Amino acid sequence: MVQKKNRAFFEEKIADFSEKAGREYLPWRKQNITAYEVWVSEIMLQQTQVNRVMEYYTRFLKRFPEVESLSEATWEEFLPYYEGLGYYTRGRNMLRTAKEVVMKYQGQFPREKKLLETLPGIGPYTASAILSFAYNDNHLAWDTNLRRVIGRFFLGGKHLIVDEGIWEEVFQMQRKVLNGALMDFGSSLCLARPKCEACMLRNKCVYYVEKGEKERQDKRYKISDKKEKGEKTKKIDWKKAEVYVFLHEKHQKYYSSQKKSFRPFIISSGYNTRAGIKKYFREKYNLTLSVRPPHKKNIILDEPVLFVNAQILLGEPHFSVFPKKAVEVYNVHILNI
Ligand code: ADE
Repeated sequence: MVQKKNRAFFEEKIADFSEKAGREYLPWRKQNITAYEVWVSEIMLQQTQVNRVMEYYTRFLKRFPEVESLSEATWEEFLPYYEGLGYYTRGRNMLRTAKEVVMKYQGQFPREKKLLETLPGIGPYTASAILSFAYNDNHLAWDTNLRRVIGRFFLGGKHLIVDEGIWEEVFQMQRKVLNGALMDFGSSLCLARPKCEACMLRNKCVYYVEKGEKERQDKRYKISDKKEKGEKTKKIDWKKAEVYVFLHEKHQKYYSSQKKSFRPFIISSGYNTRAGIKKYFREKYNLTLSVRPPHKKNIILDEPVLFVNAQILLGEPHFSVFPKKAVEVYNVHILNI
């Protein structure tokens, strides 16, 4: 058993916090939740705010109450219950995983971390969350909250958790209670900018006692690291940028012109947000898209340009397909900055 100084104090205070301020009202914290229900919540919560997921979660489970019903759904049936939550790939992976769980595991999510991680869209975090919340198995769900809270209290900084494995042995609390409480604590008090004045753990917290010194050292290192690589200093207003949209569907790319030079769709700055790009394609071409954040920024002919990938979710594209062997030509001079 790995011993950590102040472990008992930490757990006592965290249990106390959980009783008084834990978010037990969240629908994915109910007693006797199934692995399927935890999995749905965790996929939705990846990169989407809790409040937004609340709007979708119950409706989704009413329509697809267990993995069997989801495994039988087509993409068109699934999409209305998922669209707006984010990425196309996550949605596709959800359907693929549901089918695999039914076909390979008789409708039961496997109760083994390594097997869960072989399913599309399930990584170490999601696997640990499923096993701890559904079965109370001994796994810590290492999200940014757990890293920050445990890293700061025991080691003095949120970046200092290296060997995750040893921490599985340290704590005694029920895993589903501990994971939930640390997520809640990390998203209400031990924030990126922590509210130490209101924290009942602070007297024994290394971060507080050392006035955040270790975490600051880590930041300083990162900034100087960037400077060495030659960070740009010129101020560019990316809000006014044009967008080049690269349209994909089922591993094909579509381009806006039949000409020899294959151009992406060029969208002016009035429509350059992700919502704006969706609106443009819906209104002009009757296509529903999933739009990714810009993957590249550039200055082209002195103007800022964002490069964006988008997937077609619904609708028929009537554009030419970009030949696999052709070289991409934008017909413009690209200056890398
Ligand atoms: N409870 C369980 N998983 C959660 C998550 N990812 N975010 C917030 N609360 C949760």
